[in-house]
Amino acid sequence: MKETVRAIATLYGQFSISANELDMIADHFAEAMENGLQGMPSRLKMLPSFIDRPTGRETGEFLVLDFGGTNLRLLSVLLEGNRKAQILRQKSWPLRDAQSGVDLTAGSVSGEELFDSIAAAIGDFAPSGEWRLGHTFSFPCRQYSANRAELIHWTKEIRTAGVEGRDITSLLTDALRNRSLTRIQPVAVINDTVGTYLAAAYAGERIVAGAICGTGHNMAYLEPDARGQQMVINMESGDFDPGMGTVFDAALNQDSEKPGAQLLEKQVSGRYLGELFRLVLTSLHHADILRFDANRISKPYSLSTEIMGELLADDTSSLLRVEQLCRELLAVDTALEERRAIKTAALLIVTRSARLAAAALLGVLRRLDPPMTGRHVIAVDGSLYEKMPGYRDTIESVLVRHLPRTVARTCLVKDGSGIGAAVAAAICS
Ligand code: GLC
Repeated sequence: MKETVRAIATLYGQFSISANELDMIADHFAEAMENGLQGMPSRLKMLPSFIDRPTGRETGEFLVLDFGGTNLRLLSVLLEGNRKAQILRQKSWPLRDAQSGVDLTAGSVSGEELFDSIAAAIGDFAPSGEWRLGHTFSFPCRQYSANRAELIHWTKEIRTAGVEGRDITSLLTDALRNRSLTRIQPVAVINDTVGTYLAAAYAGERIVAGAICGTGHNMAYLEPDARGQQMVINMESGDFDPGMGTVFDAALNQDSEKPGAQLLEKQVSGRYLGELFRLVLTSLHHADILRFDANRISKPYSLSTEIMGELLADDTSSLLRVEQLCRELLAVDTALEERRAIKTAALLIVTRSARLAAAALLGVLRRLDPPMTGRHVIAVDGSLYEKMPGYRDTIESVLVRHLPRTVARTCLVKDGSGIGAAVAAAICS
């Protein structure tokens, strides 16, 4: 009993972020934004999108391709021109399919193969007619215009070969041409954070930034003066270094596809939280604090972030759902004290994620409104923000506590990457 309490106290010390630390992270973030914009060394790439705030009057029906690393999604989206948008139809395919063994994100797959699969799916989804296509491609891209984006490097553990350094719209256009689909014309390529911003701004909210708290983590905001004009900037904030990290973060980073990169994302996003949780549980097992069949979770990434959500949602006094999950996943009957320890470990990892995401949001607000007197709304999309118990409340409570004179709030924007790509396509048509 004492050992368990001690082990959890140690985890608490490792994963908690004090109010002072959070303030410092926000200040460093604001500084990194400034440096990135000035072209000085910075962990924030501050990538231009060449797209300004929409008016809400953009109209038309558009085809949308949403490629974010987990699924391939196609949508047809109608912009009504009165700040209303409708998804008329959509279909989605997993990029990794355990059943068929197909994994379009593997290093053995080439960019041409990936984009050929995408073109085939587009041909099935839109079998006839002329279409303008908006493409949400949720990776760091050096953008030369609203329709020309070169992938700087993959993130979120994607390894598909021969895409880094290439122009994404050319890869897509070539693949469409090879399948005689020239009736489909890509007109805009954007990041999902830009899409989230555009979707919310189209609907009329006075939005300052768009954020994703899902598989990945990133933010975009409206910069009044980038290259002499107002435009949305994709910060690629997942690459920011929050400057703190536990032994578990170090191990995860070391074994990741790109050690040293995406340090904030590795502490915040859904792609990684389950793995951090697995590392923590394994260490508690090695320390004899938790007994279970360690082989059940010996494989990296074998615990998902969704499981953590299920554990946290268990409000029963004897933690019945946690008990059931421990049986299913760890093949063990647990004592209540063990279940409490497991749930607390999940809670510490998730709370740190939300507080770090909030620190980055604070950083943006400090840069945009130094006297901190305005009213600000930040649009957020992503499964963590939408579904993880307590996540949104933790972010909001940081904003309230750290911005005493400002009214800042977040709002959920569902399907930001789908609707936002249609808005971008309309702006560019
Ligand atoms: C990763 C990508 C970024 C994207 C985010 C959310 O951080 O690098 O471009 O916006 O994931 O999907």
